[in-house]
Amino acid sequence: MNAAVMAVARSAAFYGMPLVGIKRGYNGLLRKSANIKDDMQELHLDTVLDIADEPGTYLRTARCTEFLEPKYRELAVKTLREMEIGGLVVVGGDGSFQGALRLCELGIPCVGIPGTIDNDLGYTEMTLGFDTAVNVCVDAIRSIRATSRSHDRPAVVEVMGRHCGDIAVTAAVSTGSEIVVVPEVPWTVEGVAKQLQRQLDRGNTRATIVMAEGCYDSMAPFDLYEFLTSHGKPSYEGEPMSAGRFAYVMKKLCGGAEVRATVIGYTQRGAEPTARDSAFAFEAGNLAVRLLRDGVSNQVIGMRHGRVTYMPIETALSQERAFNHTLFELVNSI
Ligand code: F6P
Repeated sequence: MNAAVMAVARSAAFYGMPLVGIKRGYNGLLRKSANIKDDMQELHLDTVLDIADEPGTYLRTARCTEFLEPKYRELAVKTLREMEIGGLVVVGGDGSFQGALRLCELGIPCVGIPGTIDNDLGYTEMTLGFDTAVNVCVDAIRSIRATSRSHDRPAVVEVMGRHCGDIAVTAAVSTGSEIVVVPEVPWTVEGVAKQLQRQLDRGNTRATIVMAEGCYDSMAPFDLYEFLTSHGKPSYEGEPMSAGRFAYVMKKLCGGAEVRATVIGYTQRGAEPTARDSAFAFEAGNLAVRLLRDGVSNQVIGMRHGRVTYMPIETALSQERAFNHTLFELVNSI
């Protein structure tokens, strides 16, 4: 995100366009803070150049549920008009782009840059942060696999991806992990246990199961409470499945193999951007500013056939995401 802000700031300065950063997404436009400095931030080129490759986001981020309501969007438009802001570059995912579409309808020119680690936007081959998050997972899984190797222990690794298994599949294929479980493909606990047992039977005592955070949504019903209590582990009715509990279930179903769980968590959102992400941010940030400068609005930027391009927001949002089932099958089959 910072790399995109830097590219926007450099481009705006180059084309002679004044620029202000809005803090915490659409929340900043609703002027919720007592001090305007908490809602808007002057973007001095010097500072922006300093933060370009820093993890996280200098302008902060937050969901803004009020923006679903027309009265709040009108309030945002009022702020924008009062401040003589002539256009917005919106960095975000599906929800942010829906907001941008509504602002365009109210006469505010907007251009979107896809910013989400999940890679869950159908119209683009790449979203900002995805490559960085995958690389964090790859580093972590390699370290986990080194430990698995030393101790002859299978591993369960949970990565992010609430509705999307792209991080899980890409990290799994990049690390030679043997099993991957995602929200897009229905699965059973017993089926994954069989996959793991097959690895153990082949003499692979250190297989890795990569699980997308949202994979439990596509899990066939499994009575975890009954399973845990019948295996002597304290539990409660309705206890949800988690990486830790899943590792325990695998252990019990796979002859006592010492399966250990790791949740990679927020480290995925706090790393220095990879070159691939930074380069995309640079090109996308510049294109966004040029589009607004040239009076082209209501567009989102994306990557198609390896090239940075743009299309109308509405067209982009209507595109179905295509999960890579071939890659998924490849990881799980050989
Ligand atoms: O949308 C990106 C994402 O990282 C998801 O993969 C994850 O489920 C979610 O954000 C978690 O965000 P938060 O903890 O802020 O709700």
